[in-house]
Amino acid sequence: MLMNEPDNRFEAALANDSGGRKIGPVILDMQNISLSFGGVRALTDISFNVKQHEIRAIIGPNGAGKSSMLNVINGVYRPQQGEIIYRGQHRKNMDCYAAAKSGIARTFQNIALFKGMTVLDNIMTGRNLKMKSNFLMQALYWGPARREEIEHRVKAEEIIDFLEIQAIRKTPVGRLPYGLQKRVELGRALAAEPEILLLDEPMAGMNVEEKQDMCRFILDVNDQFGTTIVLIEHDMGVVMDISDRVVVLDYGKKIGDGTPDEVRTNQDVINAYLGVAE
Ligand SMILES: Nc1ncnc2c1ncn2[C@@H]1O[C@H](COP(=O)(O)OP(=O)(O)O)[C@@H](O)[C@H]1O
Ligand SMILES: [Mg+2]
Repeated sequence: MLMNEPDNRFEAALANDSGGRKIGPVILDMQNISLSFGGVRALTDISFNVKQHEIRAIIGPNGAGKSSMLNVINGVYRPQQGEIIYRGQHRKNMDCYAAAKSGIARTFQNIALFKGMTVLDNIMTGRNLKMKSNFLMQALYWGPARREEIEHRVKAEEIIDFLEIQAIRKTPVGRLPYGLQKRVELGRALAAEPEILLLDEPMAGMNVEEKQDMCRFILDVNDQFGTTIVLIEHDMGVVMDISDRVVVLDYGKKIGDGTPDEVRTNQDVINAYLGVAE
């Protein structure tokens, strides 16, 4: 497969990366996580950590447990075993609302946007957690609520500028090509101003040009906002180029963990990939 071939398509995107990034201490520590659905063991005794400011990739064949792991991180699934330590605190029973409140945002493998709503309104939905005024105050459009609404709009517009989607800000999302919808979904996640951004296959189904754009935005988010990124991606060229460290899952087990170079030469990883290669 592509594992051994260096890929230069993303050099342009990488040129943006100033090289001044500082990887910090561990902020998310997943310890011995096991998760099953009835008889299906989706994750078996998996441990790995994520350091502040890094781009951490999760790779593995279909059904390996990658999306399940993201769902554990953001509190959608509760593992039967294991510990999650986020910013030094044990998180045994965290629901996804609490996870989002504490700074964990995500995008989904299948786009989850309001198709009939405009780009701007979709991005505004990402601000919900940040809104203090209640529904009644907003309905009455009352003093503080009104000021708050304006602040949130300013933030949403900043994100729109950052993602270079000004021209489509009033377009209903359902009318946009797939690559742009993925970019809007990234915008909605960014609107929550997350500390950790979880991206589930942000480039799946994109052409090379769309992938290059998405790579550049991911690197810029990481660099300019200092956001820590956990990324599931199938394109090995992208993974090897943009991630600091890679964890490899196969049938719910961890079979590799390290820098892109370490993972690329790991025999277990090569075997797992050769097993599913065409
Ligand atoms: N909600 C669920 N209910 C039952 N089984 C599930 C559920 N989510 C995932 N699984 C199973 O867990 C395994 C891992 O799935 P998933 O995490 O989606 O893998 P990946 O994202 O690596 O393709 C698969 O066998 C899948 O069928
Ligand atoms: Mg998946």
